[in-house]
Amino acid sequence: MKVTIWFLLCMYFSLFCLGLTVSTTKPCKLRETNFGSVCVCTAEYCDYLENPKPEEPNQLNIISSSKSGLRFEETKGTFNTTEILKIIDFRSQSKSLENDYEFAAFDSIALVIDNFKGTVQLKTGSNTNSSGKTFKMRMSTIEVNRDKKYQKVSGFGGALTGTVSYLIQKLNTEVQDHIYRSYFAESGIGYNMLRTSIGGCDFDLEPWAYNEQPENDKNLSNFTKLDKRDEQKIEQIKRLKTISGFHDVKIMAAAWSPPKWMKSNNNWTGFSYLLPEFYQTWANYHLKFIELMHAKNLTIWAISTGNEPLNGVIGWFFVHFMSLGWTPSNQAIWLNDYLGPTIRNSNHKNVLIFGNDDQRYTYPAWFQKMKTSRPDSLNYLDGFAVHWYWDDIFAPYLIDEVHNAMPEKLLLNTEACVGDKPWQTHGPELGSWSRAEQYIRDILQDLQHNFNGWIDWNLILDENGGPNYVQNHVDAPIIVNTKNPTEFYKQPIFYAIGHFSKFLAEGSVRIETTSTNIKVDVVGFQRPDGTLAIILFNSDRDAVDLLLNDNVRGKVWIRVPPNSVHTIIYK
Ligand SMILES: *[C@@H]1O[C@H](CO)[C@@H](O)[C@H](O)[C@H]1NC(C)=O
Ligand SMILES: *[C@@H]1O[C@H](CO)[C@@H](O)[C@H](O)[C@H]1NC(C)=O
Ligand SMILES: *[C@@H]1O[C@H](CO)[C@@H](O)[C@H](O)[C@H]1NC(C)=O
Ligand SMILES: *[C@@H]1O[C@H](CO)[C@@H](O)[C@H](O)[C@H]1NC(C)=O
Ligand SMILES: *[C@@H]1O[C@H](CO)[C@@H](O)[C@H](O)[C@H]1NC(C)=O
Ligand SMILES: *[C@@H]1O[C@H](CO)[C@@H](O)[C@H](O)[C@H]1NC(C)=O
Repeated sequence: MKVTIWFLLCMYFSLFCLGLTVSTTKPCKLRETNFGSVCVCTAEYCDYLENPKPEEPNQLNIISSSKSGLRFEETKGTFNTTEILKIIDFRSQSKSLENDYEFAAFDSIALVIDNFKGTVQLKTGSNTNSSGKTFKMRMSTIEVNRDKKYQKVSGFGGALTGTVSYLIQKLNTEVQDHIYRSYFAESGIGYNMLRTSIGGCDFDLEPWAYNEQPENDKNLSNFTKLDKRDEQKIEQIKRLKTISGFHDVKIMAAAWSPPKWMKSNNNWTGFSYLLPEFYQTWANYHLKFIELMHAKNLTIWAISTGNEPLNGVIGWFFVHFMSLGWTPSNQAIWLNDYLGPTIRNSNHKNVLIFGNDDQRYTYPAWFQKMKTSRPDSLNYLDGFAVHWYWDDIFAPYLIDEVHNAMPEKLLLNTEACVGDKPWQTHGPELGSWSRAEQYIRDILQDLQHNFNGWIDWNLILDENGGPNYVQNHVDAPIIVNTKNPTEFYKQPIFYAIGHFSKFLAEGSVRIETTSTNIKVDVVGFQRPDGTLAIILFNSDRDAVDLLLNDNVRGKVWIRVPPNSVHTIIYK
């Protein structure tokens, strides 16, 4: 009898205690794949990381991911110690620094800070053995100056395209919920933004728009409710909020193409422009979408003036999906005389309007030409939206010019993916770290150039990088296996974005950071709770020793593994 009671109590209390103490942190289930390694999630298991909260002023938490397989690995350290804080990457095959510097030959290692301009001394023997030799080696320095402040973060996110919505629906509820939590929960990567299309886009199963029938209907008499595909997305967004516990999702919407009858070529794709008699109709179409979403209790945070307007002007030769061509001069007329007044005189006047929504190379000429056409048109814009696709070729100074001329406007990257170029694998490269590095480089560069946020493209794609109606196959941070829909894979790209999105809450302010090592790039932020998040990227194929020097907190030595990215959190 006694035993039974004891047993029951024990069962009861251990479950009770487990419920209280079990953290949501679960490590990645790493699986080797063709191009590297992915983290595997199933209905029963998925990796999460509770956000570290440093308690003491001298404490720092480093979250690390690397080519050889670290995924949000946590290391703790303290400021103002002479010991080097090593990020252990046991799978890494590269030469260790110990060998480089022959640390093994020393009786004891004393790191003596020589000066902070990049050298350190290693002494043989104990500190008091003055006959010991002194070696000097190169040392990289990261300077953090929290007194110098720049832009504020609006957020990070991905796109809920028709394809994403379709794929999510094919998964069982537990798997869907892990995807929502992985992206939007605090223990996931903390997204707060979602981009979606007004009508169809290139990642849909067919091209579509509202009010395709009747044609030439200026009153949009048949656009009285949303499409079934929207209703599915709305249910998914509501579930996403419930599951992640994050309700304040900022939804950004953009149209790819109007119904064909509004266009010069009466076609979804190809060289086109909006027929001038439908300028007001096309503005009303945008407002109607905002109103119908509002009626479903979903607030549209922002719209853009249209996805990639140059696709219908110069890009139509190789772009075969829905598009509407705009020259900057004509778009300025539409914005200034139609869209701008329509939105600002409506009940939804607070919806933000972003301009351009196209590649870097269109900056700054696009806005200069808009201004020439309608000098006040830019007043209707709250921000500028940029797509990343040619960022490798076109330098960020193009964006700087626009930012410097209009520093009060927000800057957002609104689309990115890998696999779009002729010379790239079209579709996912499972486990590719080099694709993750492309993201890290670009996000770092954009943030260093005053971007307020960064939105990725498809949240999930299938194993072929689709499906869609134009056989346009690309990569995504999460790949679902449609042949085995009980599991999905978090690509290295997922963690690449996560090193920023998870740790940079809305309202974080960029502070000054500098690196003395060209292979180590850095960007730093002070978060709304006052703590710092420093994102540090080592693109070197060797480990690097770094001295992090914060103008308030002091100094810490960190050894980072080859090809790795880190978010350093401290007070
Ligand atoms: C570390 O040392 C610096 C310089 O001596 C000092 O200003 C700082 O407060 C110290 N930091 C901590 C966390 O003790
Ligand atoms: C000092 O270091 C030298 C070189 O490593 C060693 O030969 C010597 O024995 C040491 N002396 C003492 C007192 O430890
Ligand atoms: C309205 O649109 C639907 C498709 O969404 C179509 O079936 C219907 O014929 C249209 N109505 C008119 C009057 O054209
Ligand atoms: C549009 O609506 C107006 C007023 O409601 C009406 O006079 C006009 O005939 C309608 N036009 C079309 C093409 O339906
Ligand atoms: C629409 O454009 C595509 C691609 O340019 C072309 O193949 C197709 O024939 C066009 N359709 C019509 C109805 O003109
Ligand atoms: C919208 O929210 C209100 C208040 O929370 C609620 O009464 C209404 O039923 C909701 N409507 C829809 C379509 O969900």
